[in-house]
Order: sequence, then structure tokens, then C-alpha cells
Amino acid sequence: MLFVKILAMPEKTLRSSRLLLGITAFSMLFLILSSFFLFHSVINPLIPSCVFKQFVADSVPIENKPEGSDEFELPKPVVPLSPSSILDTHKIEKISMVPHEDTILSEETDVLLENESCNRNKALLRVYMYDMPPEFHFGLLDWKGGRNQIWPDVTDLKHVPRYPGGLNLQHSIEYWLTLDLLSSNVKEIVRPCSVIRVKNPSQADYIFVPFFASLSYNRHSKAMRQDKLTINRKLQDKLVDYLMSRPEWNISGGKDHILVAHHPNSLLYVRKRLGSARFVLADFGRYAARTANLEKDVIAPYQHVVRSISNNSSAPFERRPTLAYFQGAIYRKDGGIIRQELFYLLKDEKDVHFTFGSTQRSGVHQASRGMGSSKFCLNIAGDTPSSNRLFDAIVSHCVPVIISDNIELPFEDVLNYSEFSVFVWASDAVKPGFLVNLLGGIGKNEWTKMWEKLKEVAHHFEYQYPSQPENAVDMIWQAFARKKSALKVRRRERLYRMS
Ligand SMILES: *[C@@H]1O[C@H](CO)[C@@H](O)[C@H](O)[C@H]1NC(C)=O
Ligand SMILES: *[C@@H]1O[C@H](CO)[C@@H](O)[C@H](O)[C@H]1NC(C)=O
Ligand SMILES: *[C@@H]1O[C@H](CO)[C@@H](O)[C@H](O)[C@H]1NC(C)=O
Ligand SMILES: *[C@@H]1O[C@H](CO)[C@@H](O)[C@H](O)[C@H]1NC(C)=O
Ligand SMILES: *[C@@H]1O[C@H](CO)[C@@H](O)[C@H](O)[C@H]1NC(C)=O
Repeated sequence: MLFVKILAMPEKTLRSSRLLLGITAFSMLFLILSSFFLFHSVINPLIPSCVFKQFVADSVPIENKPEGSDEFELPKPVVPLSPSSILDTHKIEKISMVPHEDTILSEETDVLLENESCNRNKALLRVYMYDMPPEFHFGLLDWKGGRNQIWPDVTDLKHVPRYPGGLNLQHSIEYWLTLDLLSSNVKEIVRPCSVIRVKNPSQADYIFVPFFASLSYNRHSKAMRQDKLTINRKLQDKLVDYLMSRPEWNISGGKDHILVAHHPNSLLYVRKRLGSARFVLADFGRYAARTANLEKDVIAPYQHVVRSISNNSSAPFERRPTLAYFQGAIYRKDGGIIRQELFYLLKDEKDVHFTFGSTQRSGVHQASRGMGSSKFCLNIAGDTPSSNRLFDAIVSHCVPVIISDNIELPFEDVLNYSEFSVFVWASDAVKPGFLVNLLGGIGKNEWTKMWEKLKEVAHHFEYQYPSQPENAVDMIWQAFARKKSALKVRRRERLYRMS
């Protein structure tokens, strides 16, 4: 019956019904899979935390997913984060964790929770977080709490709202930082002690503003009607009203506030107005130097979109046949012209993979494989100086070649990127033969040194919940701790390879 109907339909409708059918089939498969994972992640609150930890470590490591399981490349609607990616479990097992038993003290104390192993005195940072209405944060993830409930229960992983997958995920930093602050008051959760959330703002080093600015931009920046303000715009106006009415803002003029605005277009309308605050950003490309700069702000890595490679399955020099890999969009505004120039220079080179196509179209899976079998991965300026590609390269243990003169790199005051990346001025990169000669001339020994270093640093670029020692979440807090102690901001000398 259904068949007959479909056959009777005109070509166009037929195609869209097929698409619909495909989407339905995929969603059902996904539903089945996710209920399977959910079943696996139901954690009994009575299970002691060591068992809980074990459990987290045991659940599906990303590498063990069946081949091709992420091969579905829909014209992406919002795909929920899979439990394995939310936990990023593959890193957890090797990390030895500090025992961390906390107690919730009585309401009168100014700290939500204290213990000798992680308390207000031990933590590098004490942070106060505004109890802002959920519409600013988890409400944007369609989370609905009970009456007067502001925060989700983060004790039990199955209650933690999931961040949408796809390319939204690359700017999910706001989510991981907020979750980490919430979990700093949860006894069962074992995490590093870089930051602890305090109840009294006067005791805090910083005041965290839990606005999911990137998600607000990604989900709500299209106007329903021409004459209507977008939700994204309205939320930003509300945010300003909220902050301006707070005594905490008044006292410091906002200087001790932390705002996360990782998507380059997030917080667009009010960033200048709130420019005295400290930002967590991807780069400074679309900011005036007065509004955002290295003195006060922190550059955070993108959440990578390809799967991380484990040390054991990371291919050495001989098993990476491709010399250089690049996949990305060809047409880019602003500083992105260089991509086109490089494309014409490199497209016919042997051992160079250089193609255009968005990550969505060409497939994350293909990119994982491509980067994992290449010696060098090109990171070329696009419409912003930074992109998730650098972090995809790092977790693929593919030595990044950074061709982006204005790039800001995360944690560059403590990481020496020249040990595991190759820097090339854009003006050199476009000289015929330069790149291929340079990269071809880096021999096995020199490359392997960088590869070993990549394996050492890769965990600094992972966002995880619960947070793990020295992962991206922890590194961001540590960067704020360094700013607090007012060390002179320092960027290392980058070693540029010259012609
Ligand atoms: C703090 O945690 C330790 C274990 O790390 C535990 O022995 C101790 O009893 C805890 N202290 C309080 C006050 O709960
Ligand atoms: C703080 O608030 C008071 C009264 O509301 C106002 O007079 C004062 O100018 C404000 N201070 C700053 C720094 O905005
Ligand atoms: C990685 O290799 C080491 C030694 O070669 C082995 O002991 C370890 O179990 C391996 N780990 C995984 C996750 O396969
Ligand atoms: C950073 O690493 C490069 C390459 O190994 C080295 O030449 C340089 O001296 C290092 N810089 C610092 C400040 O350690
Ligand atoms: C991978 O190897 C590097 C050094 O080669 C080491 O520092 C790192 O801890 C290893 N990572 C894992 C997950 O074993």
C-alpha cells in the first residue's frame, strides 16, 4: 500500500520521502543504540565511588566502536552526544586519581563543601557562580528542572543533560566548565582540585557567568520574523541587565568575572559592553584589542570532532603514507585567501591530500582516518585564525603545520608548541615548492620526536566530565590561576621554519 503510494508520487516527493525514510531509520537506530548505552550508564547511587569510577573507565572506549559506526552523514540535525563522547572514557583508565571524599558542610558555612583532599584552601581557585535562570544555560539544552530548580543533578551521569553533537560540539567549552564547577561540590565525583565553587562571592577569586553563549548563537540566532529580535539577542540583553544589577559586578566593574564566548560570533551584541570581564575564547580574530587580549583572557582549545587515537594504535612514521593532509572549506572570507593559493600549489603533489569540503560532507570518519595516516596536518587560516582542525590533528598525533600568522594558541605560556608543531609564515607557505620541500626534508628522527611529544600533550586538549587531571577543563582553570597570581603574560618564541 505504502509502496504503491510512493510509486505514484512525482520524482521530487519520492526523493524527499526517501530522505525522510532514511532519517527515520537512522533515528530509530540511534534510539535503540542510545537506550542501550543509557541502560549501561545507569549508575546506582549506592555504589561506592570507586566502583563508579571503574564503571566509567569500562564503558565503551571510543576506539572500540565498530568500524563505520559514525559513518552516517546526515544533513545534520542535532545529534545528541553519545555517552562515550560525553565521557571521553578512553583517557580515564590510565590516570591515577587522587582519593577525594568530600562532605557537605552545614548551610551556614560559606563553602558548599569541604574536605582535606580538595577544599577551599587546597584549590588553586575559588570561584563563585551566579545562580542564573536555566534559560541562560541548561535550559538552552531543553533541560527542564523541577520548580525553582536551577541546576541539573550532576551526581548521576544519566541526569546530566547532553550537549548537541555535530559541529556545535566544537564550542561546547561553556558546558564543560559549568559542569565542572557544579561537580566540585559533589562528593561522589572524583576530579582534579584546581577549582572549587564557593557560596560566598566575597571569598571568590573569580565570578563565573554561566551563560551558554555559543549554544545560544548556534541555536537561536535566526529570527523567526524579520522584525523580531532573535532569542540569542534577547538573552544577551537580559544578561547585561542581570550583570549590571549585581553588586558583584558593581564592586569590581566586572574585572573578576569570567564569560565563555568560544564561538567567534557569540556574545556579539554585548561583548564590548562587557569587555571589562575575562573571556574564554577561541581566538581574538573578531575582537578589538581593548575588548579582548592575552593580558586578561584565556584561549581555549576547540573540542575536537575526530576520534582520539590511543598511543597503541597511533601509526609511526612508516605507516603514515600521506605527507600532508588538509580538508576544509575553499571559500573563506578575510585572511582565508591563502587556502585557495595553497590548493593550486598542492593539489597535484604526490603524497599530499588536499581537498575541499566541509567536515560534514566529507565525513568525520574519513577525516579521522586521513589524519591518522598522515605525517603532517595543515592548519591554514580560514575566516578566523583558529579552527578545530588543529585539535583534530593533535588528537590524531598528526604533526600540525600552522600557517596562520595571527593564531593564538591555548596554554602557550606552558606548552612549547614548537616541540610538536611546525610554524610557517603564510608568505613563505605560498612560495612554490616551499612546503613540500620543508616537510619532505623533516626526517624520521625529527618527526618521531614531535610525534612522541604529541602523545604526551594530547590529553591537554580533551574535554571530559568528570574532569581529569590536566585535561582542557583543568588547563583552563590553571590558566586563570596563573593570571590571578599576576605573572607576566608570556608567549613562547615560536620557531618559524624559514625559506
Ligand atoms: C576527606 O577525605 C578523606 C579521604 O580522602 C577522608 O579520609 C576524610 O574523612 C574526609 N574528611 C572529611 C571532613 O570528610
Ligand atoms: C555601584 O552602585 C552604586 C549604587 O547603586 C552606584 O552609586 C555606584 O556608582 C556603583 N558603582 C559602580 C562602580 O558602578
Ligand atoms: C598498549 O600497549 C601496551 C604495551 O605494548 C600494553 O601493555 C597495553 O595493554 C596496551 N593498551 C591498550 C589499551 O591496548
Ligand atoms: C621550544 O621548542 C623548540 C623546539 O624543540 C626549541 O628549539 C626551543 O628552544 C624551545 N623553547 C623554549 C622556550 O623552551
Ligand atoms: C602516551 O605516550 C606518552 C609518551 O609517549 C605518555 O606521556 C602518555 O601518558 C601516553 N598516554 C597514554 C594514554 O598512555
